[in-house]
Amino acid sequence: MKPKISIIGAGMTGSTTAHWLAEREIADIVLVDIVEGMPQGKALDMQESMPVIGKDVSITGSNSYEATAGSDIIVITAGIPRKPGMSRDDLLSTNAKIVGTATEETIKLSPNAIYIILTNPLDVMCLVAMEKGNLPKERVIGQAGILDSARMSAFIAMETGVSVENINCYVLGGHGDTMVPLTRHSNVAGVPLDKFIETEKLEAIVNRTRKGGGEIVALLKTGSAFYAPSAAVAQMCEAILKNKHLVVPCSVLLEGEYDQNGIFFGVPVQLGRKGFERVIEYELNDSEKEALKGSAEHVDANVKNLRDLGF
Ligand code: NAI
Ligand code: 2OP
Repeated sequence: MKPKISIIGAGMTGSTTAHWLAEREIADIVLVDIVEGMPQGKALDMQESMPVIGKDVSITGSNSYEATAGSDIIVITAGIPRKPGMSRDDLLSTNAKIVGTATEETIKLSPNAIYIILTNPLDVMCLVAMEKGNLPKERVIGQAGILDSARMSAFIAMETGVSVENINCYVLGGHGDTMVPLTRHSNVAGVPLDKFIETEKLEAIVNRTRKGGGEIVALLKTGSAFYAPSAAVAQMCEAILKNKHLVVPCSVLLEGEYDQNGIFFGVPVQLGRKGFERVIEYELNDSEKEALKGSAEHVDANVKNLRDLGF
């Protein structure tokens, strides 16, 4: 029997995650949404595309959490996305209720599942899922850093003309405009970025990376990015199910690492069958530490807002 991945929220990111996962042929997939018929319709459409791409994967849709029973991984994308002019933080109250309920309901049916959270504001939603599901920290992992790092890599590839496969960028911190692109640790085929790109251009890329989510929202006008975020979730799922011990930046609960305690925060982690196995710590200089501290303060403020709302 294949592993089972259930995706709560079959909107843009949820359904695109199912699509990338089906391409990887690593699990059977369940899509759950509150909109009647929508997850069923998308699942059936995707199922009907399997003969064309030659993948033996079962994809089903449902409006009931019962369909998620026995999942190895639960991906939560349910919630509202931002519209132009909104920040990720504006989504806090609505999405905390949705993520909380989704976790409480699904954990009863899949007590051993690993949770991958996508819903924004990401770092705080991970905390909600961990607390509402009473989950061990290893089994709650937020997707943000893979996306943010991929955006930076894409911009570097566009600027240099070098294959994306040779570009290694690392963006840490909270998933917001205070995220920290670590240029000193990023490279093109092992060569530091500043040897490849003029300072001004590199600064512009760092700035564009920080605002990468907003750039897509402003273009789409009706929602936020979905191809790149869901590709990142699929990579995380594969690393977990194949026990790859893959190191990628994700949001996890820190307990002293990077001088942070008690917040979910984007750091390099090793992913395997138990969830996140360990945090990898970089040696940071003072300005990098300062930037991460500023980003952590932003996440802290959001946690305070969450508590003020009664969560
Ligand atoms: P979307 O609006 O296309 O899909 C969200 C879906 O959730 C809708 O179909 C809605 O009906 C469903 N939903 C709402 N309440 C539900 C519930 N209680 N149970 C099941 N389904 C429910 O939005 P999209 O673009 O998929 O984004 C989803 C969330 O992911 C947003 O909060 C967005 O900000 C976040 N996001 C996070 C990213 C990241 O890198 N962490 C990247 C992209 C989006
Ligand atoms: C992004 O960065 C919406 O958080 C999402 O595109």
